[in-house]
Amino acid sequence: MRNEPGHDELDHVDDEHAPTRELLILYATETGNAQDCADYISRQCRRIAFRCRVVNVDTYSLPDLIEEPLVVFVLATTGSGVEPRSMTALWNTLLRSDLPEDLFEGLPFAVLGLGDSSYERFCWAAKLLSRRMNSLGATEICPRGEANEQDQLGIDEVLHPWTDTLLNTLLHLAPLPTGVEPVSQTKPPSRVVLEETTVDKLKNVVDPLSKDPRYYQARVKANERITASDWYQDVRHFEFEFQGDIKYDPGDVAIIHPVATNDDVDSFLEIVRWSDRADVPCVIRRHVEDQSLPDFLPQVSTLREIFTRYLDFNSVPRRNFFQYLRYFSEEELETEKLDDFLSPQGADELYEYCQKVRRTIKEVLTEFRNVRIPIDYIFDVFPPLRPRHFSIASSIQEHPHQVHLCIAIVKYRTKLKVPRRGVCTSYLAQLRPGDTLRIGFLKGLIRLPPSDGTPVICIGPGTGVAPMRALIEERVRRGAKGTNTLFFGCRSEAKDQHYGEQWRSLAESGALEYRTAFSRDGPEGVKRTYVQDRILEDSERIWQLVNDAEAWIYISGSSNKMPMAVKEAISKAAVEHGGYSEEAAKDYVNALLKEGRLMEECWS
Ligand code: 2AM
Repeated sequence: MRNEPGHDELDHVDDEHAPTRELLILYATETGNAQDCADYISRQCRRIAFRCRVVNVDTYSLPDLIEEPLVVFVLATTGSGVEPRSMTALWNTLLRSDLPEDLFEGLPFAVLGLGDSSYERFCWAAKLLSRRMNSLGATEICPRGEANEQDQLGIDEVLHPWTDTLLNTLLHLAPLPTGVEPVSQTKPPSRVVLEETTVDKLKNVVDPLSKDPRYYQARVKANERITASDWYQDVRHFEFEFQGDIKYDPGDVAIIHPVATNDDVDSFLEIVRWSDRADVPCVIRRHVEDQSLPDFLPQVSTLREIFTRYLDFNSVPRRNFFQYLRYFSEEELETEKLDDFLSPQGADELYEYCQKVRRTIKEVLTEFRNVRIPIDYIFDVFPPLRPRHFSIASSIQEHPHQVHLCIAIVKYRTKLKVPRRGVCTSYLAQLRPGDTLRIGFLKGLIRLPPSDGTPVICIGPGTGVAPMRALIEERVRRGAKGTNTLFFGCRSEAKDQHYGEQWRSLAESGALEYRTAFSRDGPEGVKRTYVQDRILEDSERIWQLVNDAEAWIYISGSSNKMPMAVKEAISKAAVEHGGYSEEAAKDYVNALLKEGRLMEECWS
């Protein structure tokens, strides 16, 4: 947490804004974490009798902000300092230069940023927003929080103390009437009430995804392993086919909703002893307005369906999950253990037990077998089963009615006996040709240059090659005049060179300059070769392409240090061949980013 505005700042909050007990929590989320934090903050604020509205920025009308009594922003930062896609519209409006300097005069606000400090520009979106709101006259009522995924307890490590500070500040602004105490940390009301209903109600339920215009019905055409069978990593090439017309551009992203397997759901329901109620149809009635529910939730469902499509029991639980277990724990030893975990001294123990070994919710419940979770609380206890985004690896011009994806199946070992698996990639890995699913489309962070004459430089090590395949296929198909250069990096030429044959054949036909860095093919102990080393070797040509021919540059991949190293290699080219000083070369690369001529789509 930073130490900027202190309590004396509160004196600048004018009376018009201060004393109401209402608050808006605006969140901008990419993976759902910010939404979850917003829910948590609103639950805590309710303890001091504040009424909260929790709203996604992309559904909020910015002019209304002027009228708000108090605003808490909860903002994620994605990739290398980019705001979540849902925030772009709000951001563009806030940045307009014609806004009056006193637009938000006196409006009290607070900002909680979420980020990952292993990436460049940690919590950048939150920093910028806080600066901009201040410059438009608003009053930051408590120090900005910066929650870090890299902390031992993840974002909870900052979220919880930051929320306590916010609560103290709010109490200072709007004290509770004498004699009224904050409601203690007892069990909050459940988000929903599940009411049993008749089977015929279930028949009329339509999949809410089918009503969303971003989603299309797809059929699996191929699911092929493209890494060698003896290789440590299982990377798949997927092909999905669509009946009607679909439209997407190179750089766009596919949204996949994971589905739990029948066996997995069955064994889970048995552990929590809900097997006998698994197929009872229930109406899901919202009980508490300010807490979110999973997107696309139907009004009538069954426990089996809810745990197959909407709630996640395979992720690693957050601290809040244990808090709920504690509410419902009755067995002595289990209660004692939960109290330990939740005590201030128990944080390390909880980390060792859960985060460190990546123990899942289902595994925890296997151990805390006596905890009986009331069914109405399922949406509070279990996190939503979140859709995942994957960069599309095909051009629709080259493969009409198809979408290709290139995905590493997440599987690794920790101290626990059973290997850990990614929720969504495990679902994808077991798909077979002929299976159907709904796939959504989303604009990506990268796009083609408007003119085919512009050269492109694509840097995509590992599965970062996915969006590059979409760009290059499209350009080759169109016969683009500008050159296409691809820097690809992997560990082994023979074992994990994704789409190597396609690249070599394009290179032979003259359509592609193909540069490779095989990091583990060299002798042991010698420094590994990465894509940035190849860029340095090629720096004269790179400089000519970037500076003289105004090439567009794309960086994509999963290594968190890679984007930075690549940008450093480009700035070295500016020093060596453009005569720039090191400082000026850095500015040069930053200007490319600002202009939108250098684009990044990175993930962890
Ligand atoms: P390594 O795993 O041998 O270290 C795709 O994952 C490729 O990216 C691999 O060859 C991997 O190398 C490489 N890679 C790992 N860290 C990197 C970094 N900081 N910069 C560039 N490439 C990196």
